[in-house]
Amino acid sequence: MNTRRQGKIVKVAGPVVVAEDMAGARMYDVVRVGKLNLIGEIVELHGDLASVQVYEETVGIGPGEPVVDTEAPLSVELGPGLIESIYDGIQRPLNLLYEAEGAFMSRGTAMPGLNRDKKWHFKPTVESQTKVAPGDIIGEVVETTLVTQKIMVPHGVAGTVQRIAEGDYTVVETVGIVMADDGTETELKLMQSCPVRNARPVGRRLAPNRVLVTGQRVIDTFFPIAKGGTACIPGPFGTGKTVVQHQLAKWVDAEIVVYVGCGERGNEMTDVLTEFPKLKDPRSGEPLMKRSVLIANTSNMPVAAREASVYTGITIAEYFRDMGYTVALMADSTSRWAEAMREISTRLEEMPAEEGYPAYLAARIASFYERAGRVECIGSPPREGALSIIGAVSPPGGDLSDSVVQATLHVVKVFWSLLGRLAYQRHFPAIDWMTSYSFYKEYLKNCFEDKEQGREMDELTVQAMALLEQESELLEIVRLVGAEALSPADRLALETARSIREDFLHQNAFHKVDTYTLMLKQYEMLKMVLNFHKQALEAISAGVETAEIFKLPVREEIARAKYIPQEDIAKIAQIRQTANEQIKRLQTTEVS
Ligand SMILES: Nc1ncnc2c1ncn2[C@@H]1O[C@H](COP(=O)(O)OP(=O)(O)OP(=O)(O)O)[C@@H](O)[C@H]1O
Ligand SMILES: [Mg+2]
Repeated sequence: MNTRRQGKIVKVAGPVVVAEDMAGARMYDVVRVGKLNLIGEIVELHGDLASVQVYEETVGIGPGEPVVDTEAPLSVELGPGLIESIYDGIQRPLNLLYEAEGAFMSRGTAMPGLNRDKKWHFKPTVESQTKVAPGDIIGEVVETTLVTQKIMVPHGVAGTVQRIAEGDYTVVETVGIVMADDGTETELKLMQSCPVRNARPVGRRLAPNRVLVTGQRVIDTFFPIAKGGTACIPGPFGTGKTVVQHQLAKWVDAEIVVYVGCGERGNEMTDVLTEFPKLKDPRSGEPLMKRSVLIANTSNMPVAAREASVYTGITIAEYFRDMGYTVALMADSTSRWAEAMREISTRLEEMPAEEGYPAYLAARIASFYERAGRVECIGSPPREGALSIIGAVSPPGGDLSDSVVQATLHVVKVFWSLLGRLAYQRHFPAIDWMTSYSFYKEYLKNCFEDKEQGREMDELTVQAMALLEQESELLEIVRLVGAEALSPADRLALETARSIREDFLHQNAFHKVDTYTLMLKQYEMLKMVLNFHKQALEAISAGVETAEIFKLPVREEIARAKYIPQEDIAKIAQIRQTANEQIKRLQTTEVS
């Protein structure tokens, strides 16, 4: 430690500290700042001056105090113990720190990201004398009932396995040894450390042609996201960005969920922390925490750590992707992340670009979302992994021309635009069906085992969207010349569009059944609504009054179908049958 490069603080500006005598230091080296040993990272070098962003409050730090270069980049610890953890922006375990130090943890605390004492049962999957290369899986640790960690050869290590043994190990004990061709030996451990600023390497990139089912009807049916895809949720204040992110974190069909609460209100994170442990995975029945990693950097925590939290999260997510898992990362909100960048940039006295954000804002946002993808992982056995990124954006006043929204829209393939008007009418999720889009829509049909059903679902969504578009045109006519001007068929179109909105798209996140809808139920529900439309249209052309049709009792059943539990899904087809019968009956009375 004594041989480490040491400089001296010359200036402190909020989260940024400038130190002299730092010649030879490298960009992004982690440093310890001042007598309190605060953790920071070099973000600018100028001769022997280094600017450091400090991840903790700099109150009480002053010129003359030491800055020690650790000569290592900002890294996270990857290995058993990640799942169910709650970390701050630089991977300090919040729950453990809280237990150790209480709510007001002291500064300069460097508790490691992974527990050093806990023993994990390691089962090798390769034998001694096997030749291994980076990314090769050498064994497994069952971490929770939902996640088995694959222990991989770290990047930069290759050779022949010398000895490897099953047993109980802590993350820092040696489970095996690899001897390189030149005779150098590397110890294999359950844990590896990985820099966070650069993407972990992958093999081939694959087309993101599988839908990541979220159980949220407006998303899955109209604007689906892919496994390995990217999406953004912009919306004005209070329109439901956080609720959508929470819903995805709970119900998304991913094996691993990484949730980054970035600069949002502390109480929202508390919601996640208290609510998550109680939730059960609908597929396995296990607690959802058993597949989740939470990173919390709320608005009351230091701004630089918020900047880092996104990188900490994505690197952990990539690590699980590299094991061959489907991973989903939610970041709420990327605007707060961008604001952290802005604040640090200002302190560095960099030339501001639009809205005061640094000129590299768009590049940083792009390189973040580019870390998503469906990929062939590195190493053997061959495997595929996927990492989807879903970022909320909270532009001031909901203005979509905001720099963060624009930079994000350039890179993401799905846009879920939340409308203040819909939220105000309590139509949730307030996703605007007229302006939102998804480039993955064509893959929706692949969600269905039955090809015919997939093809039919495709048609149903096109039909439903056409009706919603027709609705906005018809409402314009009604506004100008009144409802009397509408033909019976138009009146029916308005009524069906309302049914699509209220009976299908509207979804209550807080209702036990409605909170989550499997794909097959989404299909049955949409088919039921559009079948009613088709039958009613025929009845109208046979002379039946629209008012008669709108009065049919089956319409109440259609409206309540969303509350039918998954196991009773056959009831939805029955409602369709009932609708047919009731409409037919109107036609026969008409004729007689
Ligand atoms: N799907 C939903 N079902 C029922 N209620 C919802 C739903 N989505 C949002 N809401 C309601 O809207 C409120 C605000 O949602 P939320 O906190 O997610 O908004 P936000 O866009 O994240 O706000 P902020 O801009 O403050 O971060 C929620 O507390 C809830 O009452
Ligand atoms: Mg929010």
